[in-house]
Amino acid sequence: MALVTIKGGKATIETTRLILREAQENDLEDMHKMFGDEEVMRYWSTAPHTKEAQTKKYLDGMIAVPCNGILDFIIVLKPTGNSIGKLGIWCKDPSNPEVGFMLARAHWNKGYMAEAMTVWLEYLWSTNCEQLVNGKYAGAHECNGDSGALDNLQASEGSNGVQNGGMETYRGRRIERVVADADPRNEACLGVLRKFGFKETGRAEKTFETHLGWCDSVYFELQRPRTE
Ligand SMILES: CC(C)(COP(=O)(O)OP(=O)(O)OC[C@H]1O[C@@H](n2cnc3c(N)ncnc32)[C@H](O)[C@@H]1OP(=O)(O)O)[C@@H](O)C(=O)NCCC(=O)NCCS
Repeated sequence: MALVTIKGGKATIETTRLILREAQENDLEDMHKMFGDEEVMRYWSTAPHTKEAQTKKYLDGMIAVPCNGILDFIIVLKPTGNSIGKLGIWCKDPSNPEVGFMLARAHWNKGYMAEAMTVWLEYLWSTNCEQLVNGKYAGAHECNGDSGALDNLQASEGSNGVQNGGMETYRGRRIERVVADADPRNEACLGVLRKFGFKETGRAEKTFETHLGWCDSVYFELQRPRTE
């Protein structure tokens, strides 16, 4: 059961244990611990961050993209208020909406990513998100929601017109699928993707050169569920 709040064109998604919200400058300390951890970064597309400035650059990039708080989220642990991870579509190319996710190591194997992914996908496939992407939302809406409740949210088209910070690339499009690119050795990532029904679409060798040397990719895709 998730609670979705839309305010100023940004979404906050609350689950039993987590809050998904836009990236903010004060996430830097928690994010740097995560991006500096070798285990977390083993199969990431870049080496672990050794300097806070590297994480700041990454975080500034997250904050700057229009997807922030719309398609891309920081994961906050409710009891502590700490930022423990990220989940979302970061890229600006609507023809290739690639999901990326990570959690700080202390929080692995507790079902947190499954909890976050469940509500993120519900939100993503809901009318609610489609309307956000189309820039039609204004003001705050709340719903106590399963996906049915999300579907019941109505767009406030024609109201005072808060736009979504220039989601121009996604404007007028519905997100029909999400893609992912995983290192074939990254069992945890493959496990999460398969658990949520992502299907393998192909493989390629030597796609990324990272601190591990050349790495391969397994490509996945998840289609928007069909509603009859
Ligand atoms: C991938 C990651 C986010 C998983 O987070 P998590 O909260 O530990 O995952 P969950 O506990 O929610 O597990 C969800 C499902 O993923 C799978 N899974 C998780 N860890 C796994 C592992 N080590 N091996 C195999 N499957 C695993 C399982 O299917 C699990 O479902 P189940 O418990 O019903 O079997 C975490 O390991 C991580 O941050 N890794 C480093 C960053 C990274 O590689 N990100 C992915 C880039 S593509």
